[in-house]
Amino acid sequence: MTTAIDSVELTRVGPGTVMGQLMREYWIPALMSSELARDGAPLRLMLLGEKLIAFRDSAGRVGVMDHRCPHRCASLFLGRNEEGGIRCVYHGWKFDVAGACLDMPNVPPHQDFKHKVKAKAYRAVERGGVIWVYMGSHANAPPLPALEILDVPEHEVGASFIQRHCNYLQALEGDIDTSHFGFLHAGHVDPDELGEHDPIHHTVAIRAPEYHVADTAWGTTYAGYRVAGPSRMSWRFGNFLFPFWTQVPNGEFGSHVQLRGWVPLDDEHTMYCVLWWKRGVSAMTQEAPAFKDGTPVGGMGRGNDFLPNTTDWLGRWRLAANASNDWHIDRAAQHDNVIYSGIDSIHLQDQAVTESMGAILDHSLEHLAPSDQMVARTRRRLLLAARALRDNGVPPPGVKNVEVFRDARGGYFMSDDGSGWQDAYAGQLAQAWRPAPTALPAVE
Ligand code: FES
Ligand SMILES: [Fe+2]
Repeated sequence: MTTAIDSVELTRVGPGTVMGQLMREYWIPALMSSELARDGAPLRLMLLGEKLIAFRDSAGRVGVMDHRCPHRCASLFLGRNEEGGIRCVYHGWKFDVAGACLDMPNVPPHQDFKHKVKAKAYRAVERGGVIWVYMGSHANAPPLPALEILDVPEHEVGASFIQRHCNYLQALEGDIDTSHFGFLHAGHVDPDELGEHDPIHHTVAIRAPEYHVADTAWGTTYAGYRVAGPSRMSWRFGNFLFPFWTQVPNGEFGSHVQLRGWVPLDDEHTMYCVLWWKRGVSAMTQEAPAFKDGTPVGGMGRGNDFLPNTTDWLGRWRLAANASNDWHIDRAAQHDNVIYSGIDSIHLQDQAVTESMGAILDHSLEHLAPSDQMVARTRRRLLLAARALRDNGVPPPGVKNVEVFRDARGGYFMSDDGSGWQDAYAGQLAQAWRPAPTALPAVE
């Protein structure tokens, strides 16, 4: 059971909150590299409840800082991005990407104190087409996490962002709640109409899977399993990785290098940040599923229609289908069982149900079931780590020991050797395609 105290501590992410402090121990994917042009307009960026600006200077370096100018707090969003820094339009003070004040032109030279002024800037690095930010208080930032997708050569990594209007936790929990697949996404699918080897065949043939769940060095893991024939087992593995990442079994285990981030913008808005290996076999790289007669399975669309980005704090990567238009639900498609939910596209189905819970769901109204073991265990793992940091200064998993992430993989596969779940995982990982471990960029 999630108590009221647990609920608040799990979901609030602003400065000084228990979970907010845990998140600030890690590098956070903040925006796509393509969102910032050299000497281009600065961007408003909300992250962990803090109002920031991001810009790229003349040399290509990225600055991410508090939007308030340290002089008299005019917003640097209005600033001029020019010749190696951002200049406040109020009195002309100029700052480089590290926050150093380079110029204080409204003060006579003998009274200039620019060497004593520093804007609150966070460290930023680029990797996998994404700009990562460290918002913690340690003088030395930790290394970037050794996530397997960050070992993949840059030109083979896909990256995409989509905003969701709800707390990060309920969005994340949608990814580790595997039993919803056979309903929300595939409740209308008759297994007899699918090819025998279709990856979702066993998911819809047995809609109440059994689970194994465990803590791991990177967070938590589960295996949903179904008997698929005499001494044959269908496995679907997924993971939670600290502090807000998931891996889901929507791809073939052996090549499914993928990572899904649920980055809190504030307590009520989350940026989904997905990174994937473009050459793997997964929902990101395959054609949409079809019945054995070739007809596409309804509701499995992959496209997402975006509203135009705006300069608002929360104006980036919003979907056109949202609560204000009932996520474009098609009641006829629902009634006729063409699409179980009546909502087209897998991502939008997940978006609709998690946003429909309210911006921060009220945990006191829940009735968790055995199918929610992974959800319950993950909440506990997050809370215990956050409280250990708060109470005893214990660094949370993967901050110092970044290598713990590298062996986390999600995906589906069959086994027929009778091995137990963790042996089956280890066996598959040993045979899987693995990118060569890469040295991650040093951070000043
Ligand atoms: S408020 Fe920015 S220079 Fe004065
Ligand atoms: Fe889903």
